[in-house]
Amino acid sequence: MYVCICKAVTDSEISRAVAGGVTTIDDLRACLSVGSGCGKCLDAAAAILRKQLDDQVGRQTPDGSRWGDIRSKLVLSGAA
Ligand code: FES
Repeated sequence: MYVCICKAVTDSEISRAVAGGVTTIDDLRACLSVGSGCGKCLDAAAAILRKQLDDQVGRQTPDGSRWGDIRSKLVLSGAA
């Protein structure tokens, strides 16, 4: 399903980016250009990002840290 029409970004691409280590909406914008057109998709993209991070809590990240630790840091910093 397309999340960002302007940049033709799908929910699957967002999921793959998160699986690859993306943890913030800014990183998502940088790697997929999601939200860099009209910006109307940012809430939906952020919701998918949050859900993917929640689903990955407790799993190992590519750099060896734990998703739960990253999620906690994001929540504490107000980024998630
Ligand atoms: S729909 Fe994503 S920038 Fe317009």
